[in-house]
Amino acid sequence: MTKSALPAHVGIIMDGNGRWAKSRGQVRTAGHLEGLTAAKKVVKAASDMGISYLTLYTFSTENWKRAAEEVGFIMGLVKQYLRGELNFYRENRIRIRHTGDVAGLPPDIAAELKAACDDTRDFEGMQVILALNYGGRDEIVRAVNRALATSAGTGPKPVFTEDRIRQFLDNPDVPDPDLIIRTAGEFRTSNFLLWEGAYAEYFISDKFWPDWTGEDLALAVQDYQSRDRRYGGLAGGIAGV
Ligand code: IPE
Ligand code: IPE
Ligand code: MG
Repeated sequence: MTKSALPAHVGIIMDGNGRWAKSRGQVRTAGHLEGLTAAKKVVKAASDMGISYLTLYTFSTENWKRAAEEVGFIMGLVKQYLRGELNFYRENRIRIRHTGDVAGLPPDIAAELKAACDDTRDFEGMQVILALNYGGRDEIVRAVNRALATSAGTGPKPVFTEDRIRQFLDNPDVPDPDLIIRTAGEFRTSNFLLWEGAYAEYFISDKFWPDWTGEDLALAVQDYQSRDRRYGGLAGGIAGV
């Protein structure tokens, strides 16, 4: 696998934890616990492979609809992950970042997240972006409101362009995802990276997330490498092939 053909940014909709648990007669939270193990494996594999950015859809703005017990369990796992993996990030020079609405997170989780982001800020290895309390529509709305706040005053009405909105997204320096993977067989975005994913290649896997390993990531990347990304143009240039 040549490094130049690697997707620079991979996003993963880590889905199917509940179904994985159910298929084994276990409670849903057992699936989330096993999902954390899969996340660790895939982060390591992505870093070893040379991927530059990995966005993990961890908790959506819609996931608050779930039972308080499940939500609390997931938040606890996030905290455990952020704290427990610090040595791993250090060893692998992995930088942790966040996308999503931090204001809507429980204060202890927000503090843990900030500590992990601050601690790893200067690492030049892979960047792992945790999409936590993340919604694609919510991100665009927050971006527009931030843009409006900076242009408030008596001047002319601000004009919105794609570039201007992009500047106010959560991580404007991060390139758009090249590849978005969804596990557990569902063909929908569920509000993930709506703006940034406009031209992402999608890869849907039937496997539940807790069953994912680095090998599955390698297969998804291999599949991505066979795609013809046309961006609305024609393969081979203006006249096509
Ligand atoms: C993904 O697994 C984890 C989160 C959404 C937090 P699910 O919990 O959605 O698992 P299924 O889709 O019910 O199997
Ligand atoms: C998407 O999965 C959110 C995360 C993986 C964090 P969901 O399970 O919440 O999505 P739906 O409900 O199937 O659309
Ligand atoms: Mg699901």
